[in-house]
Amino acid sequence: MTTLAQELTETVSKAFAAEGLDPALGVVRPSDRPDLAQFQVNGAMAAAKAAKANPKAIAEKIVTRLKGDPRIAKLEVAGPGFINISLTDAEISKHVNKLRDDERAGVPKRDKPQTVIVDFGGPNIAKTMHAGHLRSLVIGDALQKLFRFVGDTVISDVHFGDWGLQMGQLITEVEREQPNLPYFDPNFKGPYPNQSPVTMEDLEVIYPRASAACKADPARLEEARKATAELQAGRPGYRALWEQFRAVSFAGVRREFNALGVHFDWWKGESDVDKLVAPMVADLVKRGLAVESEGALVVRIEEPGDKKELPPLIVQKSDGAALYETTDLATIVDRVKAADPDLILYVVGQPQHDHFEKVFRGARKARLNGKASLEHIGFGTVNGPDGKPFRTRAGGTVKLFDLIEQAKAESLKRLSEQGLAQDYPQAEREEIARQVGLAAIKYADLKNQRLTNYVFDLARFTQFEGETGPYLQYQAVRIQSLLKKAEEQGFKPGSIQIEDAAERDLVLLLDRLPDAIDQAILKRAPNVLSDHAFSVAQAFSRFYAAHHILSGQNEALRASRLAVCRLVLTQFAVVLGLLGIEIPERM
Ligand code: ARG
Repeated sequence: MTTLAQELTETVSKAFAAEGLDPALGVVRPSDRPDLAQFQVNGAMAAAKAAKANPKAIAEKIVTRLKGDPRIAKLEVAGPGFINISLTDAEISKHVNKLRDDERAGVPKRDKPQTVIVDFGGPNIAKTMHAGHLRSLVIGDALQKLFRFVGDTVISDVHFGDWGLQMGQLITEVEREQPNLPYFDPNFKGPYPNQSPVTMEDLEVIYPRASAACKADPARLEEARKATAELQAGRPGYRALWEQFRAVSFAGVRREFNALGVHFDWWKGESDVDKLVAPMVADLVKRGLAVESEGALVVRIEEPGDKKELPPLIVQKSDGAALYETTDLATIVDRVKAADPDLILYVVGQPQHDHFEKVFRGARKARLNGKASLEHIGFGTVNGPDGKPFRTRAGGTVKLFDLIEQAKAESLKRLSEQGLAQDYPQAEREEIARQVGLAAIKYADLKNQRLTNYVFDLARFTQFEGETGPYLQYQAVRIQSLLKKAEEQGFKPGSIQIEDAAERDLVLLLDRLPDAIDQAILKRAPNVLSDHAFSVAQAFSRFYAAHHILSGQNEALRASRLAVCRLVLTQFAVVLGLLGIEIPERM
């Protein structure tokens, strides 16, 4: 559905055209001064500049053309040449009544849907996910939901870090500890055991130990290199053991994803493109794009106008091994072949910016990306109160799973303090605490501009007042319970008749959702949407405080206000859903 601003834009553009001016200048947007008007047009200033004319005079001419439009209640020229427009309550009412049965809260689908791959999460074998992974998961999930909502074909890919030297380090470390396992016997004919010789907890200990040992001892590093090469060449015992590492690690991250409620379409990994690397490199060499440099094969990616020097993209190290950048390049080849996407988004921390810049340039230079735009969607860090990346008291990383558990516990406490969900069954209280805890951490993350860092502060995130996830949930639950009560008393929502300011402000804000979603998608910025959600919650709160909806005497008014409440709830369901936040049934 079109918004009021869009409908007005159509009219005002025609007025500009009728004056011989660029119709594109007739854009109508919500007013910066809602105390003066509902909408404003700034185009007269630009038109005046182009025509070397007086902006006020141009604005007056436009206003004259708009006069008599029955939808418009107030029309004036303000300041240097702004056109202020306010609509009649009848027009606003007519418009929002069209939204009453729309489950999409007025948000249209795209005319031309695209195929989008969202690469996020990025867990690694043998490493438990920690607080540092939270942002990629929360932002990536919101983005996949946003693009899907407007009708794009979206494929989310977890892109597991399951290849490379770390694998050899793990294999050799396990061999040292349990040398008699069949995986290490080159003469073993199989089958290999079904059961993994190590658990996720074991891997978490083994990996740092192996990595430290390789740093300290070049011989040990060489051993790990050799094992990596043999694994990649297909040595059966190593492959079988590596499969066990993968299975154990997958189960671990699956637990975290489930806890967060995040879904992936593809569970591909770096290893999946291993077979693509050699032909890709050969092709790059053949086309003269990859050249030899100090024994390695590199693609030069500098571009005129570069402010800083970017080293070349290494597609093959001097020992023949592939690097992180090689796998990422081959992954583009794989993705183009599998899905021919229009866009690939990489939701990965800002420190990897240069890595992606190199990979993207390499891909474009070699035309490996098909029709896909490649974009790094970077983000800042989650910090502790000391302003440094969030850690436990002992200085270790905070596991994502523990973080979620803490959020649940804190929310349970907060519910008690607020006297919410008090006499509910224990299981329901815990379920609500889970929903509130997740809302708290997700909203606190998404409300920031992606690239800024923020301080992890559960006590603040779980508050029911202020700009928090729980506050939004609380407003939504309040509407649910009001609508339920209304139903019990036999009151039905009916035709909306805008009567007063609180109500008018609220529905005008609701009408801005399509624009908020557009902007969030365009800027890859979920915070635009979370800002909108917060504004709606505040406007609803004012509306709710201003009216006794159920106890009022006027039946038509009550039906109208119930319908407004239902619109708000539908919008919350859409918006919070896109942010990955659930609405509890009651609280
Ligand atoms: N596993 C990587 C890491 O831990 C993140 C992967 C991000 N995605 C990608 N296509 N490189 O740093």
